[in-house]
Amino acid sequence: MAHEADFAHTQKMKYDHIVILTGAGISAESGVATFRDADGVWAKYDYRDVATPEGFAANPDLVHSFYNQRRAGLKTATPNPAHYALAALEQRLALANGSVTLVTQNVDDLHERAGSKSLVHMHGELAKVRCGGCGAVSLCADDIGVETVCGSCGVRGQMRPHVVWFGEMPMFMDEIADAMRRADLFVSIGTSGAIYPAAGLVAEARALSIPAIELNLEKSESAALFTEGRYGKAGDVVPAWVDEVAPPR
Ligand code: OAD
Repeated sequence: MAHEADFAHTQKMKYDHIVILTGAGISAESGVATFRDADGVWAKYDYRDVATPEGFAANPDLVHSFYNQRRAGLKTATPNPAHYALAALEQRLALANGSVTLVTQNVDDLHERAGSKSLVHMHGELAKVRCGGCGAVSLCADDIGVETVCGSCGVRGQMRPHVVWFGEMPMFMDEIADAMRRADLFVSIGTSGAIYPAAGLVAEARALSIPAIELNLEKSESAALFTEGRYGKAGDVVPAWVDEVAPPR
């Protein structure tokens, strides 16, 4: 005989398909630097030098060293309660025949390490590298440089981080558009809303007439477009919100 608790997850949840956009703020409490805060990455580096195709062409050693440092930093960073809460949300909704599409601008791997499965990295992944010659993408936990040989085509000197630079097209835009069309809620977490097309998803949600919630340390640039905002550290605000929309057993 089924227990009462078993019915909790076969009951309809408030939302069936949630699209969640995350940014650097969700990883801040894991020790990964944000970009536009006072002590952020862009206070120390000019993005044109380290995050554009032109910067890479001008000084590949500098760009490799920038991403090698950040890749090395992943080895000591661990997911925080906000990452775990989003993985739990995905599981709880799945038990109620719902789903979550997690769209992250982050190049760290903390969402997957926390257990999220339905995840797209629209700005690429630090844990992968790509050959500029043959296009092959491979996993990489260590440093690369101008002398690195592509494991696929064997050519030296064409490897680059598998990340999206300014002036390049973000990845998985078709999948994101499909997920938005199916969504009944859009949630934005830990992002300043400064970079498009990610920052445009809230306007798309409103055009699709679905509610949009912002969870962030402070109001983002597009705060006025959201139907609701909750402000505080992701490690506090996100688990509380998840337990509200998809209560634990
Ligand atoms: P930003 O650095 O622009 O914004 C981070 C946001 O997180 C800010 O609104 C902070 O207030 C908020 N924040 C900081 N600590 C937080 C915490 N503990 N809990 C919750 N929120 C917190 O980072 P992104 O919006 O992710 O792109 O930046 C978007 C893109 O710009 C990045 O993917 C990167 C960058 O340039 C590329 O490199 C192509």
